[in-house]
Amino acid sequence: MGGKTTCLLPALFLLIIPGSSAVSGPKAVRGVERDSLTVRCRYNPGFEPYVKWWCRGADWNSCRFVVKTNGSEMEVKQGHVSIKDNWKDHSFTVTMEKLRLDDSDTYWCGIERIGADLGDPVEVTIVPGKSMCVWT
Ligand SMILES: *[C@@H]1O[C@H](CO)[C@@H](O)[C@H](O)[C@H]1NC(C)=O
Repeated sequence: MGGKTTCLLPALFLLIIPGSSAVSGPKAVRGVERDSLTVRCRYNPGFEPYVKWWCRGADWNSCRFVVKTNGSEMEVKQGHVSIKDNWKDHSFTVTMEKLRLDDSDTYWCGIERIGADLGDPVEVTIVPGKSMCVWT
């Protein structure tokens, strides 16, 4: 019997360490339909040159990347969403424009890292632009 070499290829999947304190965003934000919304996520010093991302979907294992930086402070825009890192401030901002009601979802702000990404969930709620409620 000849020898047989078995190569195990590691499965490629997104592994995020959720709720990591190395990156943190607001727990919940609220935007108004057709308006825009900016979310700021802070991160620990040392992560400046890392790729930052904004991912959509409650399940952090299968969330869909909306937009990513390229590891610089240059703003990156994808459709109605842009992301911009600020190294001095140890934070990055995600701006969602022309908000729609169905933009409401759980999103994650995160940092791409060898091994496991770091992420923190942000609950985004979009409310109708023309409110029929009067707050008194
Ligand atoms: C990011 O993109 C800008 C503009 O294309 C480029 O000048 C810069 O070198 C890139 N940075 C990295 C880390 O790839």
